[in-house]
Amino acid sequence: MSLRVRINLLLTVLTALFTVAMLKIVVDDTRRSIREEMEGANRVTLQLLSTVIRDAQLVSTSDASESVLLNFLRELGRVRAHEIKLFDVEDDLVYVSPPSVYKAGRFAPEWFARLVKPDLPVINLPVHGGNITVRVDSSRSVLDAWDDLKNLLALILAFLVAVNVLVFFLVGRSLRPVQTVLTGLRRMERGELHVRLPELPTPEFAAISHTFNGMADALEQSQAENSRLAMIVRQSGDAIMILDLDGRISFWNPAAERLFGFSAEEIVGHPGRLLVPHSLVGELAEHSAILRARGTIDHVETRRRTKDGRPVDVALAAAPLVDPVTKSVIGEIYTVRDITELKRAREAEIELAQNRQLTQLIQSSLEEERRTIARELHDELGQCITAIRTVGTVVAQKTESTRPDIHQSAKMIVDVAARMYDSVHGIIRQLRPSALDHLGLQDTLEDAVDQWRRLHPEIEFVLDVSGDLHDLGETVNITAYRIVQECLTNVVKHARARRAHVSVSRDGPAGSERLKVVVRDDGRGLTEPEAARATRFGQLGMRERAEALGGTFELHSVEGQGLTVTVLLPLGARAGHPGEARVAS
Ligand SMILES: Nc1ncnc2c1ncn2[C@@H]1O[C@H](COP(=O)(O)OP(=O)(O)OP(=O)(O)O)[C@@H](O)[C@H]1O
Ligand SMILES: [Mg+2]
Repeated sequence: MSLRVRINLLLTVLTALFTVAMLKIVVDDTRRSIREEMEGANRVTLQLLSTVIRDAQLVSTSDASESVLLNFLRELGRVRAHEIKLFDVEDDLVYVSPPSVYKAGRFAPEWFARLVKPDLPVINLPVHGGNITVRVDSSRSVLDAWDDLKNLLALILAFLVAVNVLVFFLVGRSLRPVQTVLTGLRRMERGELHVRLPELPTPEFAAISHTFNGMADALEQSQAENSRLAMIVRQSGDAIMILDLDGRISFWNPAAERLFGFSAEEIVGHPGRLLVPHSLVGELAEHSAILRARGTIDHVETRRRTKDGRPVDVALAAAPLVDPVTKSVIGEIYTVRDITELKRAREAEIELAQNRQLTQLIQSSLEEERRTIARELHDELGQCITAIRTVGTVVAQKTESTRPDIHQSAKMIVDVAARMYDSVHGIIRQLRPSALDHLGLQDTLEDAVDQWRRLHPEIEFVLDVSGDLHDLGETVNITAYRIVQECLTNVVKHARARRAHVSVSRDGPAGSERLKVVVRDDGRGLTEPEAARATRFGQLGMRERAEALGGTFELHSVEGQGLTVTVLLPLGARAGHPGEARVAS
């Protein structure tokens, strides 16, 4: 039943109750007043009749007396509320007062008359030769009261109808915004959270509309936030799961499906220990204890088990799930990341570092070996050649005049010995650039470039050095030297260049200084197949040397426009620590 109808019904019931109460009062009042009126009329009538009867009795005969009375009564006619009858001695009716002409023929309903009619006795007055009876007839007064009451009821009914119509209209008008509010609520119920109510007329509805709109804003915000969170959880690369207080899985995101192989339907409701290898079940209990005590687990590297029983290395973080209302812990949220690749990468990194150390060790051993060979060549072969040369010179001198044939042979021996000496020294220099030990990198490079100039005058060799290269340490020195040596050898061997430019510079801020070696030529560059082919030992060796020191090696070539090799060697702790070579060897 609508509010409007209810209000009207209530009004009607209230009015009806009021009317009934009023009717009761009116009826009581009417009864009292009719009774009073009848009693008063009674008194007057009796008084009058008593006086007339007394006067009539003064007449001697009863007939005379009766005729006096009769005349009087006939003249008197109808007394409004009384019916007067005169009986003779035989009790025959001699006279009855005429009926009332007031509202003649109409009567109040019987039930109403019973309610208000006074119950007064018929009065008997004895007279000479008979008696007079006086009976109260209140039917006119009752009819008056009934007519008044009907008018009153009609008035009340008219009032009730008018009030109901008015209230129905007014309530309808003031409840019209309810429809707007209801429509808004229904649309919101259907999930249309963008719905807002317009400004409504009365202060109450304006307040409702404000509250509704505020609530819709908050809902929309919280739904946006929820869907953002849900999207993050769905798209997260980390497995996210929630365990309830019984240790059963209650939430499982797609990344968890990918990591463990269980779909959400398969795993939700099952215990979380399914994912833990048997040997680590105790760990799960430890984690739960921490979380139930409202602690968190930030990063633990451990193992979990996939659907097919395969162990997987994971890093996990966890936090207690707290009910926002009761603030009590209602579960545990775990974030699990597969770190198999990370572990492999770490192992590869360690392997690489070990390889670098090994390469460095090999390079150092090679250098040491070269140094030994150079020393042997110098000390043994060099001495022998010198001795041969000396002996040859002596023989040549002694046989110059006496034995020209022997003299000639001896001179040849001296020449060959001299050439041998030069080549052995060349080899020694290649094997071990002794200048590096005494003069440092810059002078040794200048020395070497000078030699290349002498050997290959058709090529213009240019050397640019910047920065202080004195305290680079033996390892960096020999690495840089060997790289320049290999690059220039390649230029001579392969490039058909007219110009080769070597630049060695030390730059970078203190703590992260580096040595930059660039060798550029204007030769033929690498052909496409050469560029695609795996490098040969020369370039490989350069790369290994650079990387063994934590540096980089880059080769840039455009066919027909030459080739550029760029090597960066970090100096950092290595610079100025020649002892490192000893450690490496
Ligand atoms: N400056 C250059 N200009 C043109 N081609 C070059 C140059 N340097 C190297 N190359 C090409 O690259 C190839 C690989 O060079 P790399 O130094 O590795 O080997 P290599 O010099 O042939 O032999 P080695 O192992 O004795 O050094 C060379 O064979 C050559 O074809
Ligand atoms: Mg080479």
